[in-house]
Amino acid sequence: MKASAPGKIILFGEHAVVYGRPALAVPVTQVRADVDVEVSARPGIWIEAPDVQLSAELKSLPGPNPLAALVHNLLLALGIDPYPNLTIRISSTIPVASGLGSGAAVSVALIRALASTLQRPLSDEQVSACAYEIEKMHHGTPSGIDNTVVTYARPVYFVKGRPIEMLHVREPFTIVIGHTGVAAPTRESVADVRQLWQNDPATWDVVFDGIQALVRMAREAIETGMWRHLGPLMNENHALLQRLTVSSPELDRLILAARQAGALGAKLSGGGRGGNMIALAPESGPRAIADALTAAGSPRIIITTVESSPAA
Ligand code: PMV
Repeated sequence: MKASAPGKIILFGEHAVVYGRPALAVPVTQVRADVDVEVSARPGIWIEAPDVQLSAELKSLPGPNPLAALVHNLLLALGIDPYPNLTIRISSTIPVASGLGSGAAVSVALIRALASTLQRPLSDEQVSACAYEIEKMHHGTPSGIDNTVVTYARPVYFVKGRPIEMLHVREPFTIVIGHTGVAAPTRESVADVRQLWQNDPATWDVVFDGIQALVRMAREAIETGMWRHLGPLMNENHALLQRLTVSSPELDRLILAARQAGALGAKLSGGGRGGNMIALAPESGPRAIADALTAAGSPRIIITTVESSPAA
């Protein structure tokens, strides 16, 4: 059985969300992870992921391996014993280590494909919880925002440990996503922010509170159709992320290029230090921003529309 899951971007609130503050995230349906699970005659559970030159029996993967852990956890949770012979094919157009949720999307698609092949359909809540366990292997101390937005494939207002709230997008708006060309593991930037916070919680809690205030204003703007107001809020959020030391020269260069090309606002998105930046397109459209990002050296640009019910 096949399953697919979209990528995602964080619009506001990354890093602070690890410390209990809210964040806004939206699916990016232009990039996807696809998984096909088949019961096969070949003994064992085989993972075929040609994009990353992987073709291996699960048990032979050097551990700890997130894919092996996921399959094992799920079969255990579903009480499947002995393990069936399976071939799991994974393909993804989501760039890795770039803040687009590639790990979570592969997990969610794999969980759904495996559960339906074994005729044990799971609720969204179960899928997200199962993917969260694997996010811990990718990220260390993840907030859970990636697995949540990728599972529900809707814009979300997310607070760690609280029931998920969908975001009502009153008027669609367009975001240009520009890759820096630098792969940056979220685990490292999250660990560095933790170090800062542990050394001086009072200072960094003020920064997290500042981000929280921006997230709340951004939610209000999105839900009332005042999306143009998001631009300055994005710029302010980026300034606070710079203070948290998670921007980089490449991110700052692309963000400046986008603003100079008419973006209403721009910021890094996700873990930072590399990966992607996002820019809010004006009514006249995203083209000038996309061209400016290309001229500034971005190797990959995605244009996406944020709306309440994106096409699956
Ligand atoms: O977009 P990503 O996968 O790089 O996620 C990072 C979001 C953080 O807030 C930095 C970490 C987290 O777990 O929420």
